[in-house]
Amino acid sequence: MKKIVISTGGGDAPGLNAVIYAVVHSCTRRGWEVYGSRSGYGGFLDMDEMVRLTPRDVEEIYATGGTILGSTNKGNPFAKPVKNFAGEVQVVDMSETIMKNYRRMGFDCHIAIGGDGSLEIANRFSQLGMNVIGVPKTIDNDLLMTDRTFGFDTAVSTATNALDKLHSTAKSHDRVMVVEVMGRGSGWIALYSGISGGADVILIPEIAFDIDRVCEKIADNDLRDKDYSIVVVAEGAKAAGGQVISKGAGELGREEVVLGGIGEWVASEIRGRTEKDTRSLVLGHLQRGGSPTNFDRLLALRFGAAAVRMVEKGTYGHMVALVSSQMKAVPISEAIFERKKVDLNSDKMMTARDIGICFGD
Ligand code: F6P
Repeated sequence: MKKIVISTGGGDAPGLNAVIYAVVHSCTRRGWEVYGSRSGYGGFLDMDEMVRLTPRDVEEIYATGGTILGSTNKGNPFAKPVKNFAGEVQVVDMSETIMKNYRRMGFDCHIAIGGDGSLEIANRFSQLGMNVIGVPKTIDNDLLMTDRTFGFDTAVSTATNALDKLHSTAKSHDRVMVVEVMGRGSGWIALYSGISGGADVILIPEIAFDIDRVCEKIADNDLRDKDYSIVVVAEGAKAAGGQVISKGAGELGREEVVLGGIGEWVASEIRGRTEKDTRSLVLGHLQRGGSPTNFDRLLALRFGAAAVRMVEKGTYGHMVALVSSQMKAVPISEAIFERKKVDLNSDKMMTARDIGICFGD
């Protein structure tokens, strides 16, 4: 009999519940017990936040968005900012308490579902002696060592649907529509949705863009009697010599700046330089919401079941990965070494250039 705990950390992604479903069913069939820690490591710090999960508790959740366990991206237990009575912020290391409670509760393994931030934390616990298996989640698709993270396909599908809808309104008004999509420092969502969604211009963090090149592409469209243009901008894109645009630090305990604003900047530059009617919109958290696509659902179920097989084999300190269509175990440390960037020589980039998409370079 084994006792497994699952947590979901960082920004939510469609498919989280499908992983939980697969873990609960795979473990239960083996006669093991499963617990869920609410809000990342919440259950390791407060017993009320640790919930028993049975097949009954996860009925049909594979089809739903979000996470039944809740999540947080301001919960690094190694450096948790806590306000004291005087309102001053103190940074507290909760890792010892978490390790103590992990052992006291008698867990054999922690299945940590997360992106690079959550998996980095999980890896630190692994180094402290916790048996950890990672599951790669993020709509950004920016984890190394896995061909895909779950959540990405759904985000791309949402962004592509949005682009499809924008075409008719852009065309009716002869407008330039600038769409800002998520992805942090990687352009995966922008690239995949932009190619499939008929973008004229795609701006990604991997290529510092020249706004003049962007305006030339729009002027070229006009010359060819295509009086409207669609521009997809990744939130982490920046102009050559410029800065990434952010909204600042965000909430207390959050370790990354909140990106956003590049879409409006690009739109106002285009408006000023081309005098074309230009509008911008930010797809934002729509990309994280809703039911997982079939691809994400199946991938998440496969990841969950494979993670449990890894527990059986004792492949701790590893993350389940999709490598050439197969489930593989890869060291967590290698998956989080740095963020996976778009390969500028890939066939997707070549396809985009071949069909006339401009990257602002
Ligand atoms: O990492 C997922 C992600 O959606 C990024 O694409 C985005 O920059 C960030 O999270 C937004 O975070 P929050 O939900 O805290 O605004």
